[in-house]
Amino acid sequence: MSTAKKPKPATLAISAGRPDPAPDAPLNPPIILSSTFHAGGPLGYGRYGNESWSALESAIGAFECGSTLVFSSGMAAISAVFSILPVGAVVTASHQGYSGVMTLLGSLEASGKIEVRFVDVSNTEEVLTALPGTALLWLESPTNPTLAVADLPRIISAAKKEGCGVAVDNTFATPLVQQPLLMGADIVVHSVTKYFAGHSDLVMGSLSTQDPALLIRLSDARKFGGAIPGPFEAWLALRGLRTFPLRFERAQENALELATRLSIHPKVDRVFYPGLPSDPQHMRATSFMKGFGAVLSFSLKSGAEQADRVCESSLIITYATSLGGIESLWERRRRWANESSSVPESLIRLSVGCEDVEDLWEDIVQSLENA
Ligand SMILES: Cc1ncc(COP(=O)(O)O)c(C=O)c1O
Repeated sequence: MSTAKKPKPATLAISAGRPDPAPDAPLNPPIILSSTFHAGGPLGYGRYGNESWSALESAIGAFECGSTLVFSSGMAAISAVFSILPVGAVVTASHQGYSGVMTLLGSLEASGKIEVRFVDVSNTEEVLTALPGTALLWLESPTNPTLAVADLPRIISAAKKEGCGVAVDNTFATPLVQQPLLMGADIVVHSVTKYFAGHSDLVMGSLSTQDPALLIRLSDARKFGGAIPGPFEAWLALRGLRTFPLRFERAQENALELATRLSIHPKVDRVFYPGLPSDPQHMRATSFMKGFGAVLSFSLKSGAEQADRVCESSLIITYATSLGGIESLWERRRRWANESSSVPESLIRLSVGCEDVEDLWEDIVQSLENA
């Protein structure tokens, strides 16, 4: 009987999704550029499957402990989940999560497809009260961009007892910090665009599940919805994933240091980062998370205009949307019309990258001073 242990994350990132070893077999999976395959095999057609996707899927699946499907974007993966809900289904979701999801939920509700109950996911009682009648509980934790932490173990277990489906967007935390499928969630979602790919050079999403019947439904949603990734992007994402633990650990270390320094900067009103002992979510986060991630937000004592100028003044940190790449990015979130009005006007979201932390701090200080 094999006693092989599951490799640790740094090893998994390097070893997962490789072709089987054989003389002259390549170390890396090939990029399969074909829409068409000879008849008789399991793939059938380029919208149904591709070896470049399956290499990436097996690697992400090993991290999230579930079978995985990759999609053309994070939003395509999320849309596939909502697409399998029956008309009139009740979705309970965070009132302040990624703005793209909030907008999508709003439009699905306006068209009569679903009913949405928005809740504050950091308020466990509020979430539990909304569970009866919920078909799908949509969780994002920590949330984008205020880093609110949901008590995932307690909420997921209560939702499963109530018979609700549970999906968790794990983009911010990543499986290095928490593994929602192991807590009982049905689906884990990623914007692969972010930490997995890690180099701001592609857009892709994934869904992972341990439920074989659900996997077939989600696979059919991809097959017939058509939101498939390109083989080159899948290959590139797997190349990026090889260094995901290295990048994430460095970025996370930088984030804690910058959050700590920002929290005592005279121009900063509040720092949103669950790794700070002063953060209202800190105790909860330490109870089940293995880290706090590498995105932090902070609001200024002055207003939106000043915050825009801070973002424009940086020399190292790029003024741009997105997160999870090796390079640090920041932006004022309310510059987007569809960002939640509960997000402070002057809130700047900073995706901390892997640069030298002293260079980043110097850049933040000079931007705050020069704005
Ligand atoms: C938490 C979260 N989920 C999902 C998405 C959507 O992913 P994508 O941009 O890959 O479609 C984003 C994008 O920023 C996000 O921040």
